[in-house]
Amino acid sequence: MIIGVLKETYPGERRVALVPDAIPRFLKAGLEVYIEKDAGLEAGFKDSSYRDKGGRIADSRDQIFSLADVLLQVLGGGANPNSSGEIDRFRQGQIIIGLMDPLSDPKIMQEIAKRGITTFALELLPRISRAQGMDTLSSMATIDGYKAVLLAAESLPKILPMMTTAAGTMLPARIFVIGAGVAGLQAIATARRLGAVVSAYDMRPAVKEQVESVGAKFFEVHLETKGAETAGGYAMEMGEEFYKRQRELLALAVAESDIVITTAAVPGRRAPVLITSEMVGPMTPGSVIIDLVARYGGNCELTRPGETVISHGVKIMGPIHLASTVPYHASQMYSKNISNFLMHLIREGKFELQLKDEIIRETLVTYDGEVVNPKILELLRDSLKT
Ligand code: NAI
Repeated sequence: MIIGVLKETYPGERRVALVPDAIPRFLKAGLEVYIEKDAGLEAGFKDSSYRDKGGRIADSRDQIFSLADVLLQVLGGGANPNSSGEIDRFRQGQIIIGLMDPLSDPKIMQEIAKRGITTFALELLPRISRAQGMDTLSSMATIDGYKAVLLAAESLPKILPMMTTAAGTMLPARIFVIGAGVAGLQAIATARRLGAVVSAYDMRPAVKEQVESVGAKFFEVHLETKGAETAGGYAMEMGEEFYKRQRELLALAVAESDIVITTAAVPGRRAPVLITSEMVGPMTPGSVIIDLVARYGGNCELTRPGETVISHGVKIMGPIHLASTVPYHASQMYSKNISNFLMHLIREGKFELQLKDEIIRETLVTYDGEVVNPKILELLRDSLKT
């Protein structure tokens, strides 16, 4: 079986799906690994490092498409607008594994299915203990949360820690994190390391203890949150009335913060608007909002995906794929996750589609010419109605 690693094509993407250290494990399992030339360069991994570990550098991208039985990508399918131009290059029966955002763009998955490609979208991985080592979303969210704080610190006209100097005492910056999942908790930990005073809010009450364990104060609001959490630990989509009440309760905390980092997401849905334009007005000029869910519509009404907007003197940044700005470690983590996933699919050197296994069943999007994933099929049916 041949594993092919493609150079990423999403604009500005610097990560690579597999790092050299991952190769020996595949070789031991009887697989061969081909890497597109310079695929890892921007992440800090030279072709020679892949070769040293037993990988082969392909002569061309075409060679990878034609040789590989399994293609590994960071961003493919609906996660990468450039991927639609390459659908014709896939070979029938080929397997593709990567982040594909099928919940946002189910139609491209239908196109891929028609080519007879088997795809596994890592976003759909069930959040169960057995799958933790394959959880790319958590890995990338960890880096997003870390980098969001650095980005904000770089823009803020203040320092983060308290400093007592001969020139006076500088008070610590106040950081408010909305949404304390994986990215939010890492943002809290990073902000605390830099000396900021941090508070955080999440509508899932179970998160309070986690927030406190990483050194932030949990911002309590009195709001009925029954049914706010799925069995898998995700937030549920709530009604507009709920979000309106949230905005009223969060307004003061937002106004008093130097930095607000928002991460509140509802998988497969638009991110809820938790900060309106009116809520930005009272913030001190120079304050910063980092909206980590810009890709899903943003938690701040003013967010523009991939851009920085200045309103009332407040900088609102909507970075996309922030993990790509830390490509070395992001690739290292991604590579570990995708390798674990691939090894899970393989028995004695051969691909085995074990549909009894929920990890395999839930991530499988296309197979045998069809979209087979129930969630994606439902979205496709809904899109026909509208
Ligand atoms: P996410 O990226 O989907 O959302 C981020 C956070 O925003 C969540 O904590 C969510 O509760 C919060 N949120 C959504 N709507 C909100 C609103 N209106 N107001 C306030 N907060 C809101 O979530 P993420 O980071 O991917 O993880 C969510 C949870 O999934 C974790 O806390 C954990 O319980 C579970 N998880 C389990 C794993 C495992 O068992 N393998 C691995 C990673 C996460």
